[in-house]
Formats: sequence, structure tokens, C-alpha cells
Amino acid sequence: MTSKQILLGVSGSIAAYRACDLITALRDAGFSVTVAMTKDAHHFITALTLQSFSGNEVIEDFFALPGRVKPVHIELAKRSDLILIAPASADILAKLAHGFADDVLSCTALASDAPLVIAPAMNEKMYENKFTQENIGRLKAHGAHLVAPIHGHLVCSDQGMGHLAENAAIVAAVKKALLTQRSVSAKKN
Ligand SMILES: Cc1cc2nc3c(=O)[nH]c(=O)nc-3n(C[C@H](O)[C@H](O)[C@H](O)COP(=O)(O)O)c2cc1C
Repeated sequence: MTSKQILLGVSGSIAAYRACDLITALRDAGFSVTVAMTKDAHHFITALTLQSFSGNEVIEDFFALPGRVKPVHIELAKRSDLILIAPASADILAKLAHGFADDVLSCTALASDAPLVIAPAMNEKMYENKFTQENIGRLKAHGAHLVAPIHGHLVCSDQGMGHLAENAAIVAAVKKALLTQRSVSAKKN
């Protein structure tokens, strides 16, 4: 059986450093992982690191020309069985909730009908902000699976709500989203 293809979107959160262990946990669970990172994610982690952990090319820029003829976001959307955004910044959540498509990650999400799992990570006030909550509510209403952040260490304060969920919870949500999708498509046939 071929392994399911997970597109891991890494956005500009301090929790981006956690992506390495998350990739390992996803691979240990039998998934193949390709990373797409936002421009600002580069402030927190390198493409080289993510590529080394995932074993696959990291998609950073859909305007780059590494010998591709077809638009990379369309190819990625077609081949991904699930899109997981972890950590999901307030900014990427706002973009996804409103259909923005100005970078490779948001554009791929818009071009895909695969299940979407979002794992936000941010400052407590940012997470509780009504706009962030509205954006998450909107994404959930359209079928996205939320892996809620937890109370834990935040760089801006000692403790607070907004710490990226544990990897085990994120991997469990990915498995559940794929299973739910399978039972929905089984009912359709
Ligand atoms: C040190 C530092 C840490 C940050 N951590 C977060 C974070 O955890 N979550 C978040 O939503 N934004 C965080 N930001 C702000 C984002 O990096 C910023 O909104 C960025 O434009 C997000 O871009 P992206 O969503 O395209 O990746 C942080 C900024 C700085 C300078």
C-alpha cells in the first residue's frame, strides 16, 4: 500500500522549530511528508532543515523555476491526500478563511479539496482575538479540522494559551481526518 501524502504547511510562528519533530512523528506513522513553507517561516527555520527531515523537496516559492512546467501549487494540490498547517500563524488562518492565495501555501490550499487540518500557535491575545476566533470558526464551518493549541510555554510570556498542540494530538487528528474523509467518500459511492 502506498503511503498517504501529507502536505505540511509551515508558517511564520516561533513554533516552526517544532516542525522537525512533527515530520518525524508523521513519517513514523507511515505518512510521506512534503513541506511548503511561507516566506516568513524562513525567519524561524530553514528549508534545508525541513528538507533533511522530510526527505522531500521543500516548496518555498511558486514563482521559482526549478525545471517545472506545470504550476507547482496545482501539482501539490493534486498529489496531497491531506493538508496540515502546523504551526498555523494568525496570518495564514486569516488568509485561508478569506480565500487569499498570494503565496504557495494559501494558493495550494485553495486549489485543493483534500481535508485541511490546522494547528494554530501564537500569543494568547492573538489567539483569543475575535478576528482569529472568527477566522477559525469560519474554517471549521467549511470543514477544516482544528487541533486546538494548549496552555503552555510561550516566548512572549511564561505560560499561556497558544502553545502548539502536542505532536501526538496532531498526528491523531490527521489520521481521523483521513478516516472521516474515507467514510464520507464511501457513502458517496
Ligand atoms: C519572534 C516572533 C515570533 C512570532 N511568533 C508568531 C506565532 O507564534 N504565531 C503567529 O501567528 N505569529 C507570530 N509572529 C508574527 C508572524 O511571523 C507574522 O505575522 C508573519 O507575517 C506571518 O506570516 P505567514 O503567515 O505568511 O507565515 C511572530 C513574529 C516574531 C517576530
